[in-house]
Amino acid sequence: METTSESSSPSSAGTAGSVKIELKGALAVIRLGSPEEKTSILTQQRIASLEQALDRIAAAPEVKGLVVIGPAITGFCGGADVAAIQTVTDPALGERLARQGQDVFAKLAALKCTTVAAISGACVGGGCELALCCDYRILLDSPETKIGLPEIKLGIVPGFGGTQRLPRLIGLPNALDIILGGKVVPAKKALRLGLADRLVGVSVERDKAATFAALESTAADVATGKLRIQRTPIALGHKLMTFTGLGRSLVQKRARAEVLKETKGHYPAPLRALDAAVQGLALGLGEGLKREARALGEMIVTPESKSLVHLYFLTESASKLGRPVAEHLEGISVGVVGGGVMGAGIASSCLAQGMPVIVVEPSAEARSKASTHIKNSLGKRRSLSDKDREECLERLRISDQLEELTGASVVVEAIVEDLETKRAVFERLGALTEPSAVLASNTSSLPITEIARAVSDPQRVVGMHFFNPVEKMPLVEVVRGGATSDMAALLTAALAGRLGKYPVIVEDVPGFLVNRILSPYIAEAAHLLAEGLPVERIDAAALDFGMPMGPVRLLDEVGLDVAAKVQQIMTESYGARMQAPDYLRRMVDAGRLGKKNGKGFYRHGDIPEQVADDVYTLLGLTVRDDQRPATEVLQERLVLPLVNEAVRCLDERVAGSPGKEAAGQIDLATVMGMGFAPFRGGILHYAESLGARTVAARLDSLAETYGPRFVPCDGIRARAAGNLSFYVAIE
Ligand code: NAI
Repeated sequence: METTSESSSPSSAGTAGSVKIELKGALAVIRLGSPEEKTSILTQQRIASLEQALDRIAAAPEVKGLVVIGPAITGFCGGADVAAIQTVTDPALGERLARQGQDVFAKLAALKCTTVAAISGACVGGGCELALCCDYRILLDSPETKIGLPEIKLGIVPGFGGTQRLPRLIGLPNALDIILGGKVVPAKKALRLGLADRLVGVSVERDKAATFAALESTAADVATGKLRIQRTPIALGHKLMTFTGLGRSLVQKRARAEVLKETKGHYPAPLRALDAAVQGLALGLGEGLKREARALGEMIVTPESKSLVHLYFLTESASKLGRPVAEHLEGISVGVVGGGVMGAGIASSCLAQGMPVIVVEPSAEARSKASTHIKNSLGKRRSLSDKDREECLERLRISDQLEELTGASVVVEAIVEDLETKRAVFERLGALTEPSAVLASNTSSLPITEIARAVSDPQRVVGMHFFNPVEKMPLVEVVRGGATSDMAALLTAALAGRLGKYPVIVEDVPGFLVNRILSPYIAEAAHLLAEGLPVERIDAAALDFGMPMGPVRLLDEVGLDVAAKVQQIMTESYGARMQAPDYLRRMVDAGRLGKKNGKGFYRHGDIPEQVADDVYTLLGLTVRDDQRPATEVLQERLVLPLVNEAVRCLDERVAGSPGKEAAGQIDLATVMGMGFAPFRGGILHYAESLGARTVAARLDSLAETYGPRFVPCDGIRARAAGNLSFYVAIE
């Protein structure tokens, strides 16, 4: 006899918090949600409902097999509710929540029948930990299927048994790779690792419903013993590294060193996860689970976790920014004008997402370079198969004729940074493309409003400011010129999102958002040099604060010629607070362009790279070797001007009306565009952690000692006076 019922806890309303259980004789099926949900989130209610379902199965001796499946083909389970993670401020509560989840999952692991997780879409975090409690895991072999433990990326550790069960299943080294890296892996890799036991192929003849049914039926066959499958055994070497004390201590030592190298000690969660995993193997599952729960409780309340969760929500909303117009991206073709470093990067990113691209580049040499760049860049994308790469290149055309872009739906211009040359190109583009085509410029310093004047309908013109290298940098500034239409801005945001980037919509001010905020930081580095501080001390102070590289090294990376030009524009636009000794110009005049020609502040090519010892003589500087000022003062001098400029941008509406949303955009832009320490949650999140009063007092003190460039802006003063947040608008 077949029965279907909803197993919901008394407090849950509707199906949002429940799982569905079907008993079909010897086979039971637990659906983790209802199909409309698309995936399931492990809310408190859903966990309670899962417990009821498991109790029922445990009490039904006729059940010989259980299939656990997601609500729909789109997702198995996305893990815990991230919003709930954000609200926990008591470590004891965090630990208790982890124990509750672990206890329910332990009931699944303890069932006497054969249990099989049937997985399609995302199976991450708590979802993966749930699947780890089953005897087998069957995965749909589609690009959307992903399994793993990304908790570390939220500053926490897996708390429902992941640090314990994953090493036992696939061996400690591979498990640590996933846990400490916060990784999710595709189906084929999961099979290779032994995290999946069998893949179900996707056939073109089957529709989604039939594919999902095939996944369920294979899982049912395994659960009921009709289909016997073998687990991938852990390789002998990895077994020794997992199940012997000596092996584990070697792995632990190596992993610890790698974590510290990677995080520079700024992120506590990976080390706690490592300890829980290793200790659990030594002390047994029960003790390991206890330690894992304790670690979760302690990590969930850390400022690092709160910052990372804050960023998580910002990335989620940035990804949704272009959604209202996303359907307009279907079937679009992209034109890229200029096949230099940026143009080639933009073209390869669009090709990788399946779009046809025409690159227009007048120079034959540059066309050939662009073609090589695009091939290399596609070659580095691990998500693409050789066949995918071939198809990408079939969709590419490189030409010297702008007329080829007549049919393009979006054109991104990335030619030389010269207003008149850009205007000439836009004038022609305006005339030859369809009136509905969006015309975007990747300019980093020219006003979009001025470029747009060359087009008869300037509403179509927008800034689409990528960062270098395009393939790696996750931010795109969508710049609204004076006439840019909402449609053009949103479509550009949607395109950025399709390319896997986070868009922020900003106003057309010099430097836009990121370069404007960054400028006083770069200028301060020059002031420090002028005082005789060695480059190493300046860069080390920034690294120690959590920046990915110091300001002087950043200049070398960007190119000293480009940086000198930006500095000049910023000083002309914003005056004294951006002004710095003209070392950049002097370096450029001496033929030092930074990394691109191997000669900058650093000697590139050496490993590790050393500061070029003739730099100080060239700039007429005498280096001081005392330790003054203290590192904390250096950090304040570098970082508080960033805060000052960010608050100015906030109140001048560069990222929209001041308030939570605009402040969030500024946080996201600083982390994704300049690498501002993610564990500090963005520049304004950091300022908030200090409080407006402290920020104002420190800036006042710096202004007194080092000069008026540090004077806090009105927005900081007003917030300090009222003890107000940076996330609310001030009158
Ligand atoms: P690039 O010098 O590598 O490439 C520019 C290319 O445009 C050259 O190949 C040149 O032959 C071509 N070109 C010149 N005039 C042209 C025309 N009328 N029609 C078609 N192609 C033409 O320069 P890069 O670095 O790629 O920069 C391009 C744009 O991107 C500039 O506006 C720059 O400000 C901006 N940008 C550059 C960044 C960087 O770090 N390089 C970062 C963000 C934006």
